[in-house]
Amino acid sequence: MKNNSLVSISDYSVDDIWQILEYAKYFENNPRPDLIPNKVVASLFFEPSTRTRLSFETAIQRLGGRVIGFTDAGTSSVSKGETLKDTILTVANYTDLIVMRHPIEGSARFASEVSPIPIINAGDGANQHPTQTLLDLYSIYKTQGKLNNLNIVMVGDLKYGRTVHSLVHALTDFNPTFHFVAHNLLSIPNEYKLLLKEKNIDFYEYQNFDKVIDFADIIYMTRVQKERFSDLIEYEKTKDAYQLRKNMLKNTKPNLKIMHPLPRVNEISIDVDDTTQAYYFQQAKNGVYTRQAIITKVLDLKI
Ligand code: CP
Repeated sequence: MKNNSLVSISDYSVDDIWQILEYAKYFENNPRPDLIPNKVVASLFFEPSTRTRLSFETAIQRLGGRVIGFTDAGTSSVSKGETLKDTILTVANYTDLIVMRHPIEGSARFASEVSPIPIINAGDGANQHPTQTLLDLYSIYKTQGKLNNLNIVMVGDLKYGRTVHSLVHALTDFNPTFHFVAHNLLSIPNEYKLLLKEKNIDFYEYQNFDKVIDFADIIYMTRVQKERFSDLIEYEKTKDAYQLRKNMLKNTKPNLKIMHPLPRVNEISIDVDDTTQAYYFQQAKNGVYTRQAIITKVLDLKI
């Protein structure tokens, strides 16, 4: 990948993924403020974010680096008509690495092709969110002790959910069985079903959520992505299709963990938050360690 950028999870081999998980474990115990004391990282968020932006900024500061950037492109010269290429070339003059979230699919790939410095994709439209995937893999590994041979249940917006798309892609190397639970307007896109067929990965599609809870190792809940719908009537039809509640967790496997990339709207009832299965806030915390690991790898540093 040009400049060591991380644009898609497919940019990383299985060995790369294991290296990130090993580094993340190390950073969980060692903040290492001496690693990038002379580096400046740009944080360019053309779309809203809480976890990705703040965990990246925390990761940079724990590594001893500094951050510049914007959280609203409207305050940058993009609002005067500046192109993405010109923005990237300008910011690359000031910084060592660019973390970018953008609403257009493929924007991160384009940025990586024009940029003289590495780009980390912090989410491009409905396409990919590779750093979320790496923190998801770290969370799965921490809670299950393995990545192989797990029953992964994915629920909600499987059509527009970029975290789902990246995670499905990454897990194909670990022989999962996927159980996709979605309204028929939000089912997993055909390109992912074809990928799974090519790789001989078993997957099943359901509209009834109750059937799959008891044999899940991981339940990966997702928000219906209102901002991606061109027809808001479709959003209204699908937004409340699934809600996970505490009373649905009576017969789960002991190792079950409930994950969610967050933010949630109402797809996980708040009475789930105090159960032993709830893992979504720890998952968000794992984002700091994983992003420290990703920055280290992208900048080709050694720990
Ligand atoms: N998981 C995630 O991408 O959250 P934010 O949109 O808050 O960054």
